[in-house]
Amino acid sequence: MAAAVTMLVAAALLLALLPRAADAAVGVNWGTVSAHRMPPPVVVDLLRANGIAKVKLFDADPAVLRALAGSGVQVMVGIRNEALAGIAASPAAADAWVAQNVSRYVAARGGVDIRYIAVGNEPFLTSYQGQFQSYVLPAVTNIQQSLVKANLASYIKLVVPCNADAYQSASVPSQGVFRPDLTQIMTQLAAFLSTTGAPFMVNIYPFLSLYQNSDFPQDYAFFDGSSHPVVDGPNVYYNAFDGNFDTLISSLSKIGYGQLPIAIGEVGWPTEGATTANLATARAFNQGLISHVLSNKGTPLRPGVPPTDVYLFSLLDEEQKSILPGNFERHWGIFSFDGQAKYPLNLGLGSPVLKNARDVPYLPPQWCVANPGQNLNNVGNHLKLACTMADCTTLYYGGLCNAIGDKGNISYAFNIYYQLQKQDAKSCDFDGLGMITYLDPSIGECRFLVGIDDRRVLARSSYSDSSSPVSCGLWLMTIWVFVWFTIVGSF
Ligand SMILES: *[C@@H]1O[C@H](CO)[C@@H](O)[C@H](O)[C@H]1NC(C)=O
Ligand SMILES: *[C@@H]1O[C@H](CO)[C@@H](O)[C@H](O)[C@H]1NC(C)=O
Repeated sequence: MAAAVTMLVAAALLLALLPRAADAAVGVNWGTVSAHRMPPPVVVDLLRANGIAKVKLFDADPAVLRALAGSGVQVMVGIRNEALAGIAASPAAADAWVAQNVSRYVAARGGVDIRYIAVGNEPFLTSYQGQFQSYVLPAVTNIQQSLVKANLASYIKLVVPCNADAYQSASVPSQGVFRPDLTQIMTQLAAFLSTTGAPFMVNIYPFLSLYQNSDFPQDYAFFDGSSHPVVDGPNVYYNAFDGNFDTLISSLSKIGYGQLPIAIGEVGWPTEGATTANLATARAFNQGLISHVLSNKGTPLRPGVPPTDVYLFSLLDEEQKSILPGNFERHWGIFSFDGQAKYPLNLGLGSPVLKNARDVPYLPPQWCVANPGQNLNNVGNHLKLACTMADCTTLYYGGLCNAIGDKGNISYAFNIYYQLQKQDAKSCDFDGLGMITYLDPSIGECRFLVGIDDRRVLARSSYSDSSSPVSCGLWLMTIWVFVWFTIVGSF
């Protein structure tokens, strides 16, 4: 009897620990390149409402980190590429970075649950022409030593989010190999990661493959099977994600680290700004990806072993990102800038849809539009100004507001500029061509947005006093074990 009890208790304890051990979960990237930023506490509430337990940041914004304190959300902070040189050159600079951007937040009880530091962001991107490359490993070494000194090294791991152009294949995944200029760096990085137990982190974008190659088979970008599977000896690939993943594994094998765990730092699909970017394709890709990863199927080279973590790109639209890559760059969010779900998405956490942000502190419900009584022939310069300052990408081909007509275009541009200026009445003048309206001018799917007052946080219930879903599960398990003990003990 006692043996049975011990075994059951052990099993229960094991079960309770399992979610932590096999932590593979869908996280999100939280970027903040936006002029319409929701207050960080509203975003953290959005994460929690949707059960999103992991978040990847691109820097260490104090307001964001303060909002994450006590939330139960696991956090990856980031070191910007521009800071790598200084940190690489100076252990003291690394110490200062860790002190200011990590220790300060984790020290306090109920602090921020920082688990990872991303050293640089895609520092090996070909388009950077090697300018950050030589700083990465020295920066990694210095930051690691700072973590050791701060007694944080056993808890916080370093990763380097790599762009997928760090490796290539002439044909099939088994031919994968790191770019020749990176062989030595990657070997050292892989050696470091394997000693700390951190994953190799890579960003994978089938959308970009499709966008950049007109002969890329569209169905190969998605997860519903492909009429153009890639046959690689005994292995057959039906989607670009698996093909890319195994190309990385082959590349790692060739430098002697084929067993490294792999995490996906960014993956996603935009909803606007290209012919292949819309709500349906974004939903199909992201849902296919999530189901694929959570099925634990793995890939031909790693059957049954999914990536350790997957961070969707992205949580929110960021309307001030550079559109050099294309207009789609501002439309990667699974939520719009104001935390409204763009399409149904099941994150595998029990809900078939996403929950919208609550208590968003919008500016008053008023818009700026073209005055119908005015001749708009000379509006050109105003449009140019408005659309240089604010984001008009949705008016272009592939945008949700592409078909709203000339007048619609003008009104859209006037309004987006007016909202950017926080509804300053002067910003709706446009030499008398603009006027303020209190009737929502949105047209079908084309939304005329109302800005956010990011200095105002609405009164809201505190979330730091409610426990996280994980600790809630542990609590239930503990209670269950206790009850079970009591029952068995009474026999
Ligand atoms: C901490 O991070 C922020 C932004 O990510 C950066 O501006 C700042 O310089 C960092 N602190 C130190 C001491 O490097
Ligand atoms: C609205 O503006 C976009 C972007 O300049 C353009 O592609 C579209 O044709 C315009 N629509 C009309 C009706 O002028």
